[in-house]
This record gives sequence, C-alpha cells and structure tokens, in this order.
Amino acid sequence: MVQRWQVPLADVRVDEELLGAVHDTVASGWWSTGPRVAELERQFSEYFDAEQAVAVSSGTAALHLAVVALGCGPGDEVVLPSLNFVAAANAVAVTGARPVFCDVGAGADLNLSPADLDAAITPATKALIVLHYGGNPCDLDAISEVAERHHLPIVEDAAHAPGAVWRGRKCGTIGRVGCFSFFSNKNLPTGEGGLVVTNDRELGEKIRLLRSHGMTALTWDRHRGHAHAYDVLQPGFNYRLDEIRAAIGLVELDRLETENAARRRLAVRYRERLDGVEGVVFAFPAHDDRVISSQHLAVVLLPERTARKDVQAELAKDGIQTSVHYPPIHTFTHYAALPQRPLPETERVGSRLLTLPLFGHMTEEQLDYVTDRLVDAISAHAIEL
Ligand SMILES: Cc1ncc(COP(=O)(O)O)c(C=O)c1O
Repeated sequence: MVQRWQVPLADVRVDEELLGAVHDTVASGWWSTGPRVAELERQFSEYFDAEQAVAVSSGTAALHLAVVALGCGPGDEVVLPSLNFVAAANAVAVTGARPVFCDVGAGADLNLSPADLDAAITPATKALIVLHYGGNPCDLDAISEVAERHHLPIVEDAAHAPGAVWRGRKCGTIGRVGCFSFFSNKNLPTGEGGLVVTNDRELGEKIRLLRSHGMTALTWDRHRGHAHAYDVLQPGFNYRLDEIRAAIGLVELDRLETENAARRRLAVRYRERLDGVEGVVFAFPAHDDRVISSQHLAVVLLPERTARKDVQAELAKDGIQTSVHYPPIHTFTHYAALPQRPLPETERVGSRLLTLPLFGHMTEEQLDYVTDRLVDAISAHAIEL
C-alpha cells in the first residue's frame, strides 16, 4: 500500500469488481486499443448524448488534440483562465499559439469571468478554453454569447466535470469540444487516460485520426482482418487509450453518478462544519439552480493574512493531505515572461486557496477531523499585523 496519509486528498476505491475487470482484460491477451475502448466510447457517447466520444491517453492529450484539430498554431491566440492546471496552456503553447490569460469572477466564484474573457479577445484569437473549476459549471450562457459574437469555438476543459450539468446539459457537450481527464485523483479515474467529446462529426473524425498517427486503420482493425493496409492522411500522435484502462473506465463510468452524489453530500457537510468560521469561505455558492456540480474539489479561501504554507504543514503533521488548485499559470517562469494582462481577482484569491481532501468514500469522521484540525491550524497561523 502506498497510502501514508490518514486523510489523503483523493483516493481510489479498489474492489473485486474492478480487479476482476482488469484480470479479465489482461487474460484476454489483447492489451492495446480494442473492443473495450470501443465499448467505452459507445457508452460515453450515450452518457453524454454526444455525436463523438474519443478515448485518449490523458486529459492533456485531449486538450492538445482539441486545439490542433481547431487549427491553432503560430500567430494565433487562445484565451483561457490563469486559474487552471497548466495542461491547457501547455497544449496551446506547443502548437506555437499564444495562451492569453483571463481573470476569474469575484468573491467565491473561482470560474472565469465572461466579461474579462471578452476583454481578452483580439483579432488574433482563435479559440477559447473554459474550465469548470472543481466541477462547478462556468456560466456557459454568458460565455456562449461572447463566443458567438466573436465567432470563436469554445473548448471545455471538463477534467473536473464529468457528470456536471449546466441548465440541464452535461458539461463538455455545450462548447464545440469537451476534454476530460481520467487521472487517478479524478471523479472517474483510470490511472492515466482521457476523453474528447464533440457533437461536430467532422471535428470528431479529425480528432480520431490525429489520435493515432493520422492513420486510416488501427492495429486492432488489422488483427480482426477488417483492414490489411492503411494510409496516413495527416501527421498525428499516439494518444490512444489501452484496454486495461478502458476496462477500469467501464466500471468507473457505472459508478460516476453515485460518486458525484457522495461528493456533493460531503461538500454540504464541509459547508456546514465551516459555516461561521471567521474569514473562511467555501468556494462557489451553496445554491445555484442552474447547475449540478460534480464536486471534484473541496476548495476554501483561507482568511486573509493566514500563513497558508504553515497551515498545510500543520495539517500534514496531523496526517491530512492538502493542495492548492492552482498556482495561477501566469506566475510560472515560462508564462510570466509572456506579455501580461491585469488579473486582479486571480491575484486576490491565488494566495488564499486551499484544497481539502474529498473523495466519494471519505467518511464523515474523516471530514470532521479535517475541519477540526483546519480551524485549529488557521487560528495558530494568523499573521499579526
Ligand atoms: C483542469 C485540468 N485540466 C487538464 C488536466 C490534465 O489531465 P491529465 O493529467 O489527464 O493529462 C488536469 C489534470 O490533471 C486538470 O485538472
């Protein structure tokens, strides 16, 4: 066992069903992309009610394929929030396009500000990448209005948001293309892995081609005798998912709604337990009729003038793992060297963010332990003026 935390930030649930699925796949003798990947894609396109679901090797691969398929390259700009994991910015930068960062909303809203997204658009803008931070859907009505006005495609970085809903529609299916991650700490984990979802058939077919070297047939097709030769229509990558991870994904997809509901229940308890703790704000409103969150993360804003590093160290001593989602991308050395726009809200919240443990099978006792220890750690590490 690799577990060293009393309460880890995230955790996978291992049981007989999951082990059985992996065992059967390994025993089948076919490990590379094949029937389980095809079945996973079929089930995902049904789940998302989407024209195309393309399984890939990571969320980063999904984002890279999306921006390449949309034609982003040198001379183009892509607008995205700085408060995101660096994968989206990197996916843009490696095409030769320039990531341009926009700000988040005010208060406890850690999603991008549609007004600042609009302000960041220039004639060079080729696409917009929006994040559903922590599984909380961003305002896709306002964002779609901006995108339509400027005739720009929306890429949803839905890594946190499988099963999240915006006004009755699943996140990842509202923009031109949605990108999911199946990294181990996600709501639907397969170890590494990801998915691209789109209702644009042509774009989906392009992404499917780019996923596997631009080749017209897979090794699996040739193994089954369905193809004997292949052509290469454009240069692509090997971003395929394998059968073992697809087998895990099929089990996890069955569990997704239950997992998300458990996370939402735990978030309610976090809110209740932290309600009234001075200066602590649980991110996002408790009630928003427009959304169903997938509650990937439990994020709080610490009181101003709290030594976050010391709070984290104190919690670590108590066996509680915490994290920060995220150091804003524009502060990393590579991106700080690019021309900057003012991002006052991102700067304001950036130093106060703290992510607390959350996973579907977390117990109420674990959660209460976290909040008790957090409250003590905050009062011990207030910075005196
Ligand atoms: C918001 C976000 N986008 C993209 C990614 C990249 O996904 P992956 O780690 O599967 O490449 C992650 C995951 O870690 C993420 O949290």
